[in-house]
Amino acid sequence: MSIHKIPDKGLKEEDLFQIMDESIKSDIDWKSGKAFGAVYYPGENYSKVISKAFNRFVHENAFDPKLFNSILSMENELVGQTASLFSKNDNLIGNLTSGGTESIFLSILSARNWSKKNKGIINPEVILSSSAHPAFLKATQFLNVKPIVIPTKKNYKLDLELFNNSINANTILLVGSAPNYPYGMIDPINELSKIAINHKILLHVDACIGGFLLSYLKKMGYDIPLFDFELEGVSSLSVDLHKYAYSPKGSSVLLYRNEELRKEQFSVYPNWEGGIYGSTTFLGTKPGGIVASTWMALNHIGDDGYLELTKKTMNATKTIRNFIEENEDLYLIGDPIMSLLAFKSKTNNIYLIADLLNDLGWYIGRLQNPNGIHLVVSQIHDDGAAERFIKDLQMIISKLNNSIIKNKLLKLGDKIATNAVKSLGYKSLKKAILGKVNSSSKKSKNRLIYDLKSDLNLEQSNDLFKSILNNFY
Ligand SMILES: Cc1ncc(COP(=O)(O)O)c(C=O)c1O
Repeated sequence: MSIHKIPDKGLKEEDLFQIMDESIKSDIDWKSGKAFGAVYYPGENYSKVISKAFNRFVHENAFDPKLFNSILSMENELVGQTASLFSKNDNLIGNLTSGGTESIFLSILSARNWSKKNKGIINPEVILSSSAHPAFLKATQFLNVKPIVIPTKKNYKLDLELFNNSINANTILLVGSAPNYPYGMIDPINELSKIAINHKILLHVDACIGGFLLSYLKKMGYDIPLFDFELEGVSSLSVDLHKYAYSPKGSSVLLYRNEELRKEQFSVYPNWEGGIYGSTTFLGTKPGGIVASTWMALNHIGDDGYLELTKKTMNATKTIRNFIEENEDLYLIGDPIMSLLAFKSKTNNIYLIADLLNDLGWYIGRLQNPNGIHLVVSQIHDDGAAERFIKDLQMIISKLNNSIIKNKLLKLGDKIATNAVKSLGYKSLKKAILGKVNSSSKKSKNRLIYDLKSDLNLEQSNDLFKSILNNFY
């Protein structure tokens, strides 16, 4: 059933939940660990308590610090608790934001405004590695800052020499990731910190996906290189709590070394007719529930709980990593430090393997340059999902290896289909792809989209993917 207008009379709770329950049946079965990314779940017991805290504050607004003392003190506490993971001193300051993208946006806003005010830079440039998250490109586009993107080296590591050579009088900020999303590797933050100090420029560490987990790995005795405020050149750091801190979606913390930098992200309009207006982050109205539930997650799960969840995450990661490393057909891309794994096949089309995994209900990521499968492993995968995944993966590889002729024909079929669509020109290609994206067979057509994309220029790719997004809503 789909409801196209607000019902004249409100429908019954049971009926509506029944509709929701029906609708959920078509979703990915993430509770049994089928999603390698996008979902971070601490388990039923923790989740119940965290959701209860969200509900307790579901209508409160975290926008005005003077309005709800309860929310203000929870935000300050949770920021302080998070900061304690990334520095031994108590002077760090920060705010809760709606996610990694907002934290990154604000770090660039702050760097841009601070550098204009203090150094007179009016054509600001940010230097980042090609492995940095696209949120940086999005932010630079919004904020009219020039991104200088440095390609990773052959071993997928950040190219320090090119970073160094790209610094000029307009450089406001260097970006390092801990770790980066594609390869799960930590950039050489120590070296970046030295460069930042030498050139008196700012350095942001994107620890959105891994900062929290890395801190607990450190507590467990793993050898984790310094990546945080212990390094003098680090001026800001983002860490998402809606990832490995297992709070609900809409929760990240952006930390600064000093208040001078943090103030540059604030917006104040003292002369507005509606009254003096000020906000600390991008949002105006900010959900009280997210502050309360994040505070609850940190304090209810606690160090002991996070250590246990981290152990489970690394157990599952080890199971899958061992399988990849011991499998004749597969190999890891790069040298991941934690629970993000990317891999390739020596003999088979990795996107075909990805499509076949999708067909079995697995949600996985796809890397480009090199083509690969990307997994974000978390604690949920430790209850049998990791084993089920490698069993399915092995079955797919064996099937592909046992049907070499069929496989060749499939490859040929893909090539003919791809070339046929390509020969039609961009407009027809777009029509063909949009038709496929809308069709029920979209799952198995992902590799064709990647194949077709390789012939498009940037303008065409942008247009195509905006149209695809457009069609979803
Ligand atoms: C390294 C890194 N930075 C930033 C982000 C963006 O975070 P969000 O999706 O919460 O905006 C992600 C998301 O996966 C990430 O992995």
